Amino acid sequence: MVEELIEERKVAPKARGSKPVSLHDVPFAAKDRVAVGIAELDRVLGGGFVKGSLVLLGGDPGIGKSTLMLQISELMARNDGRILYASGEESPFQIRIRAERLGSKSGNIDILSETELDSILESASEVRPGLLVIDSIQTIYKSSLTSAPGSVAQVRECGGDLMRFAKEKEITTVLIGHVTKFGVIAGPKTLEHIVDTVLYFEGEKTQQYRILRAIKNRFGSTNEIGVFEMTEGGLREVANPSSLFISDSTASGSAITSIMEGTRPLLVEVQALTSPASFNYPQRVATGIDYKRLAMLLAVLERRVGIGVYGMDCFVNAVGGIKVTEPACDLGLILAIASSIRNKAIEKGTVVIGEVGLGGEVRPVFGIESRLKEAEKLGFKTAIVPHKGIHDLAKFKMEIVEVSEVKEAVKLTLT
Ligand code: TYD
Ligand code: MG
Repeated sequence: MVEELIEERKVAPKARGSKPVSLHDVPFAAKDRVAVGIAELDRVLGGGFVKGSLVLLGGDPGIGKSTLMLQISELMARNDGRILYASGEESPFQIRIRAERLGSKSGNIDILSETELDSILESASEVRPGLLVIDSIQTIYKSSLTSAPGSVAQVRECGGDLMRFAKEKEITTVLIGHVTKFGVIAGPKTLEHIVDTVLYFEGEKTQQYRILRAIKNRFGSTNEIGVFEMTEGGLREVANPSSLFISDSTASGSAITSIMEGTRPLLVEVQALTSPASFNYPQRVATGIDYKRLAMLLAVLERRVGIGVYGMDCFVNAVGGIKVTEPACDLGLILAIASSIRNKAIEKGTVVIGEVGLGGEVRPVFGIESRLKEAEKLGFKTAIVPHKGIHDLAKFKMEIVEVSEVKEAVKLTLT
């Protein structure tokens, strides 16, 4: 439950209401877009920022939102004139330190240490920046409202005002919002339906990679992701993200499979380690992999393949801290477990894709051809795939082995 104060609002009555217009008479022109010059970001945006759009950039505290926005500001300042960066989170000095670290050279970024919305808008009207950044929406407030900054009422009102401002003055505006994974802070969530585009910046703070994902986009697809790496010199785009999630391991208990992030295939490595249970009750621990899926796959292994897992501790892990939740990874996971139990490694250069059913059958998965193309691009030589899942086998240079049962796949790779 969130307490909400009802604010009195005076709205001047409109002189005359709007009249309907024929859809075809509505002026139509391609919206001006400004490409930032970071390919991973521009793709997620649908080709760059649309002029006058309002974008919400959400993510966990400390994930790198301010860093990303400062890097974007730097690039845009070089091409698109002045940038106004309003920060209620950090002092100008702190921002300067970060900018130095990022190797900022442009003198075109104005820092505004202000949290009152109307003052921010006034400055923005004067400066007329190519990009206005608000860091963060939780720290700004409208003085006409009595509730505290960060409250639902403040966030919503400020968001609404910023939307009108962005549209009226054609100033692209980015709002940074802290959102925790569990959506504990209600604020930014209430903004999602107001703004044009909602981007989420995700990742584990202990891992280096970050994924930028469009949750909503009035000017583009929501199927694209951008992958970044947090380095000492700021965020760096990762053009070949698959390399992040594959180790050089040649040990048993490892398999390479593929997940789809939107329309983009990523190769990931899943690892398994089994050993006789040290207690009466065997442990099953899954990191980055669905626990219930693991339990199901272990049952299939025991009953349909005849590889005993009862009384074994079993640990499974997705390399690089990524989450592997797709059924397409079932076959890879089950082979990784079997490989650990047999203590025999799957041959290097093999990618394994397929959903596993309760009967121990291997089922086709969507996007198999783009997954295989990605594997080929990365030099994989063999693919274990579901029977009848591919239309045109001749398209691929790599060896493609079709299997219809898990048993077959185990026989092929682990004997
Ligand atoms: P920040 O952008 O402040 O996160 P947010 O605005 O989402 O809260 O980034 C926080 C972390 O990023 C901080 O713990 C340090 C790290 N970082 C780097 O590793 N390299 C860098 O160049 C920068 C600027 C930050
Ligand atoms: Mg920040």
